Amino acid sequence: MCGIVGYVGKKHCIDKIIEGLESLEYRGYDSAGIAYVKNKKVILKKAKGKINKLKEKINYNEESYLGIGHTRWATHGKPCKENSHPHKVGKITLVHNGIIENYEELKKELSDYEFLSDTDSEVVAALIDKLYKKDNNMINVLNKLQDYLIGSYALGIIVDNDKNLYAIRKDSPLIIGVSNDGNFIASDVPAILKYTNKYYLMLNNEYAVLNEDNVTFYFDKEKQVKELLAFDGKKDAAIKENYDHFMLKEIYEQPKVIMDTINEYLDNIQTLNKKFKGFEKYTGIDIVGCGSAYHVGLVGGTLISKYGNIPVNSYIASEYRYNNHFYSKNHLIILISQSGETADTLAALRKANDDGIDTLAIVNTVGSSIAREAGNVIYIKAGLEISVATTKAYTCQLAILSLIALYLGIKNNILDENKIEEYKKIGGLIQNILGNVDEEKKIAKILSKSKDVFFLGRKIDYASCLEASLKLKEVSYIHSEAYAAGELKHGTISLIEENIPVISIITDDSIRLKTLSNVKEVCARGAYSIIISNKVFIIN
Ligand code: F6R
Repeated sequence: MCGIVGYVGKKHCIDKIIEGLESLEYRGYDSAGIAYVKNKKVILKKAKGKINKLKEKINYNEESYLGIGHTRWATHGKPCKENSHPHKVGKITLVHNGIIENYEELKKELSDYEFLSDTDSEVVAALIDKLYKKDNNMINVLNKLQDYLIGSYALGIIVDNDKNLYAIRKDSPLIIGVSNDGNFIASDVPAILKYTNKYYLMLNNEYAVLNEDNVTFYFDKEKQVKELLAFDGKKDAAIKENYDHFMLKEIYEQPKVIMDTINEYLDNIQTLNKKFKGFEKYTGIDIVGCGSAYHVGLVGGTLISKYGNIPVNSYIASEYRYNNHFYSKNHLIILISQSGETADTLAALRKANDDGIDTLAIVNTVGSSIAREAGNVIYIKAGLEISVATTKAYTCQLAILSLIALYLGIKNNILDENKIEEYKKIGGLIQNILGNVDEEKKIAKILSKSKDVFFLGRKIDYASCLEASLKLKEVSYIHSEAYAAGELKHGTISLIEENIPVISIITDDSIRLKTLSNVKEVCARGAYSIIISNKVFIIN
């Protein structure tokens, strides 16, 4: 995923932009670049590969007070210097996050320009240059941009012979950081934390003009008064501390952040009732999210359906708006997102809003688009999640869905109020597991030598298998598949060969024997079987 950092101020900009890009490295990228103004000229430096490659080309002593930088994750065109940002066309230099869907049509209309890259972003630079030539007024250009561009964009723009830094966004996040010495643009908060924790969130189709002293926001040419936010986490929230990587740090943060998330709702039955009052009116619920957020919906949805005694269906957000939905009389759509900015989840939310259905967002990022546009919002308290592979946000989202199930279960007399006390122990129980992971380390060593890993489970365990399999693929690049345990024999059991690890998740007594019979099937084919369970049991 791409990263944007820009600065205009009284101090030198190059080090700030490079540091900012480094703090966004966790998002992954394949090339990096920077543009800065020196003696009224825009200087461009780009490199394929890591930021260190870019740094080799940089002289930190160069005097510049205005610049933009970018880390690129290739979407249009391969990773190479030419395709990396910033792009300069005519008087316009820009960095872009997002995807311009109509860039090919625009490119045809901009045939008087010569394009040096394969990117949609360079086309946007050409478009802005063309619009700017009309009256040399960037406010007019930014105000018109949405009439031309289809897709998502967060743009940081510098203009030849202009001291301002310009920013605009639509469906791709962008924040404006403010400090005593100057002002920043960034695609995410960690990029500015070394210099300031004060920032503004940009809304869709808003644009901003930054100079060394001020930031002015516009919407439809009208100046906007906006709320200044302060990042309330630790300044070093974006630092790995003693952990080898952020994912590990965030796994270990789970006991605390889950309890931070739960405690607000679970002091006693009165607080639970107060927070979730009205949920019992719903006669059907859809839960919508992407990737892990979709998986969390599968797990949590099963609980809500069971204890709420209502139909709950979970959907992949990128599919949701293309299908027919048959809403019940009192229907609720729950949108799950850590970032609160995922385009497909946002599109599903907008469809739900258009259809007039009640919506609830469960998100981590305060003030994000999904949080703002949903009818109601519940914030999890996961804190900054730096790792691209979500861990603590997943468990916090699940905690909220479980609380909804708990509330409905108590209302329906299926669960006893005493359950509340059990919930309060969750943090400690997770802490116990994290306290000794010797066995897990041994298993990880075995998995690291495998080329395929299978996961088997039924019901909720199957949903957990989907998430486990996604995580394994994402962080180890080992091929993995999750199967509903009863499904494997319908064709693909032939893939289970001698010593292939098969991890079965078995936490539900009611289907334990069923899943165990599937475990025996794979063992008969020579699989290396690993069982994850909440109970010790003997297999005959
Ligand atoms: C996987 C992972 C992704 C996200 C998905 C949704 O480890 O992190 O699958 O869960 O991209 O992102 P959010 O929750 O920000 O909408």
